[in-house]
Amino acid sequence: MAVSGRGSGGCPLSRRASLGLNWSQVGDAGTVSEVISYAWRDPFTDDEMVDLVRSHGGNAVAGWWSKIQQHSLGWVTARDGDGLLLGFVNVAWDGGDHAFLIDTKTRGSHQHRGIGTAVVRLAANRARAAGCEWLHVDFEPELRSFYFDACGFRPTDAGLIHLPSTNGC
Ligand SMILES: CC(C)(COP(=O)(O)OP(=O)(O)OC[C@H]1O[C@@H](n2cnc3c(N)ncnc32)[C@H](O)[C@@H]1OP(=O)(O)O)[C@@H](O)C(=O)NCCC(=O)NCCS
Repeated sequence: MAVSGRGSGGCPLSRRASLGLNWSQVGDAGTVSEVISYAWRDPFTDDEMVDLVRSHGGNAVAGWWSKIQQHSLGWVTARDGDGLLLGFVNVAWDGGDHAFLIDTKTRGSHQHRGIGTAVVRLAANRARAAGCEWLHVDFEPELRSFYFDACGFRPTDAGLIHLPSTNGC
């Protein structure tokens, strides 16, 4: 199901994305028209993902999405009026109470317009609707403001092992 500018639970999305406003393109006639559509489990292609990752300077791996999609509870896409993929986030799942937010991405040309916050909010709403109690995320320190302030996560103790760097106990 696609929604334009509002989260699945009827919660208003934050800031500019909540209004479905155009903030970047004004046509020759001075019209303002772009609306961002957010959707849960909306299909997209590997080529679209490669294009999205390259747009923000990431290291795109062809076939990545086809490989991991089967392990996802669901994912959120953001598209412009022409269907161009602008944003994405994936939600992995333990099959019970715990969901894991991963691979949040916004097209390089469209960052700082509320799209990342909006895809995370819709992902949280859908994980809640699926019966999950906890939504986890980890990130580089420079993204604390995005996840804590914009998206509403709170700090917690967590642990991490880079398995290829270790050879077991
Ligand atoms: C992180 C990312 C998804 C944010 O998407 P976005 O659509 O620009 O996010 P929003 O517009 O909703 O940002 C809301 C607020 O979060 C904070 N924020 C967003 N991106 C940030 C960044 N890269 N660094 C620090 N703070 C950031 C800012 O306070 C921002 O408000 P502002 O626009 O008024 O400055 C985007 O920068 C991205 O795709 N980065 C490359 C991929 C990546 O690193 N993903 C994270 C994986 S954990």
